[in-house]
Amino acid sequence: MEISGPRGTHDILPDESPLWQTMETNLRQMAELYGYSEVRLPIFEHTELFERGVGDSTDIVQKEMYTFTDRGDRSLTLRPEGTAPCARAFIEHRIYNQAQPTKWYYIGPMFRYDRPQAGRYRQFHQFGVEVFGSRDPNVDAEVIALLVRMAQRLGIKDAQLRLNTVGCPDCRPLYRERMLQYLAPMAGELCNDCRQRMDKNPLRVLDCKNPGCQEVVKDVPAINSYLCDRCGQHFEQVRKMLTAYKVDYFLDPRLVRGLDYYTKTAFELLVPDLGAQAAVGGGGRYDGLIEQCGGPPTPGIGFAIGLERLLMAARKQDSAIWKLPPTMEVFVAVADREYDTQACLLLDRLRLAGIKADKDYMDRSLKAQMKYAGKSEARIVVVIGEEEIRKDSYVLRDMMQKEQQEVPSSQIIERIKSILVTS
Ligand code: HAM
Repeated sequence: MEISGPRGTHDILPDESPLWQTMETNLRQMAELYGYSEVRLPIFEHTELFERGVGDSTDIVQKEMYTFTDRGDRSLTLRPEGTAPCARAFIEHRIYNQAQPTKWYYIGPMFRYDRPQAGRYRQFHQFGVEVFGSRDPNVDAEVIALLVRMAQRLGIKDAQLRLNTVGCPDCRPLYRERMLQYLAPMAGELCNDCRQRMDKNPLRVLDCKNPGCQEVVKDVPAINSYLCDRCGQHFEQVRKMLTAYKVDYFLDPRLVRGLDYYTKTAFELLVPDLGAQAAVGGGGRYDGLIEQCGGPPTPGIGFAIGLERLLMAARKQDSAIWKLPPTMEVFVAVADREYDTQACLLLDRLRLAGIKADKDYMDRSLKAQMKYAGKSEARIVVVIGEEEIRKDSYVLRDMMQKEQQEVPSSQIIERIKSILVTS
């Protein structure tokens, strides 16, 4: 029986991976422009990290973690997100003793036992950034602007930024009380999940996709009138800076994120074209997370982009970055198998000179080799035959100009390079 990949996973085959590489290179370059350095962390962590960091009332921890016991009887979990692992590494390596802020970015697979559908996977990839150590609202604005500009760099024109503040441990309890008062008379109309959320985190009801729950929260009081002075001023400065950066946003008092660690600023980037899974990225401030994970009080903020979704949105756009270089530049063909050694040695010279080159390894006839080279979109085919061996030269065919010339072996690399620069 044929074995297929596990549900919710997907393969990135070689015809797709150049797109991924282009996307990743652009994101890395941008993060580095903004002063971030790459951190590479393990794929699995102690389960407790996510229970404490992401929060045990979240859907992620309650229903979506890939948790297993290893042979040493430890409970481990495939990382469902990258922020808690960054916090763990920040504490473990005492990075807080260095000059702050710390600006990290990461890229890699995440795992959530979600219900798979278009744009939603069980193994997916995130590109994330985290800034530790600064409470400055201008950092919030810079982080948000970076997210928006990353999407723009990939040619996405119709992304919308949703912005909110979710308060802090000083002002949120008051709002929580107000929400509970508001929801209590209508609790019977909420879905089962939301009834449970009312106990642990009633703000999450705001984010429920169930139409019944959305109807209940439609006139819920907004958090803005419950903010403490510090949260109010912080949010005002974030908005001011975003306006100065000319980053458009819409205020959405219902925006609460699916992870418990957020304080103050919260945001999401949506591409409406993507349908049900429109959130391409999201993030926010998490001033209590490091302490919650056992470190000294340290503020933080960051975001993560879902790369499958970003690529889906970006590929629809007609952007110059998707004009990818060819996978092969030169194909070396032989008129007869007996010239194979010469072909291999020429390939070696070409590759050492930085030219993407290949030959036939399937015993094709010369005609079939030419056809194969045509399909591979190689710009140049070099033919080796009896005559050429005798004269120590090659026949060089420019597939684009449909021109052919004989080139001495000593000049072949130079001649090929001069043709390739015109591609
Ligand atoms: P998140 O909103 O859970 O935030 O995930 C960020 C992005 O990952 C989402 O906007 C979405 O594009 C993508 N994503 C999430 N789940 C899936 C899935 N099952 N399939 C495909 N894509 C998915 C976080 O993970 C936070 N750690 C972000 C953050 C960083 N906050 C502060 N710093």
